Amino acid sequence: MEELIERLERARSVFVLTGSGISAESGLPTFRGVGGMWRTHRVEELASPEGFARNPQLVWTWYNERNGAHRRAAPNAGHYALAELERRTSDFTLATQNVDSLHMRAGSRRLLELHGSLRTARCDACGARRPLDATGLPLQEIEHGCGGMLRPDIVWFGEPLPEAAWREAAEAAARAEVILVVGTSAVVYPAAALATRYASREAYVAEINPEETAISDRVNCVIRSTAADALPRLLR
Ligand code: OAD
Repeated sequence: MEELIERLERARSVFVLTGSGISAESGLPTFRGVGGMWRTHRVEELASPEGFARNPQLVWTWYNERNGAHRRAAPNAGHYALAELERRTSDFTLATQNVDSLHMRAGSRRLLELHGSLRTARCDACGARRPLDATGLPLQEIEHGCGGMLRPDIVWFGEPLPEAAWREAAEAAARAEVILVVGTSAVVYPAAALATRYASREAYVAEINPEETAISDRVNCVIRSTAADALPRLLR
């Protein structure tokens, strides 16, 4: 921990990759761990374009519930610590796989939402966006005026990441002196590659996660603790 703190203090350029684990202490479930959403829900039904085409009402019912939960949740000490680290670092980029907006609400600004967000719905035909409030999208309004369907404005399995956000993230990962990987199992690509394949060989990569992950054996430093506990301690 001490070496990581010193490197963070010295670093001009820091890149952070987060996943659902950073929001666990805000009361939001992860995907694959104990109580994870993919243990009780079928990924292909809820998080794929094919699932949406088969049953858009089911998909929206689930995302409307998640959207409500995100808005009832509050950012935790881990989200706030990353917003503070951004203020202290001249070149800082935070890339998240989360769609819960908690980093934004905690004050992070150099933020790339690699999997989109649930703040908006998007038409699958014309691309028009519609803001969502806490109730989400009413099921009778899924059909868009242009003849297309409004879908959650997020990335599903089999879909490419938003091009500009991905490019910026890959560049930021490549120039970072310190990389923090927080609360992700690092099994979903391409996001997971940011901390490994895209990182420079000189980068100091630290993982903050109470459990072992797919990249634990490839990082320089492992902090087996939760995000809300460990991240504030990095800011001396
Ligand atoms: P996972 O559920 O795969 O991993 C969550 C990670 O968070 C695990 O490694 C946990 O050990 C860790 N964790 C749990 N509690 C924590 C805490 N308090 N502090 C720190 N870490 C904690 O979730 P993701 O890696 O985010 O994509 O999953 C990646 C993507 O897969 C998601 O964006 C989503 C999902 O399917 C799509 O839907 C496209």
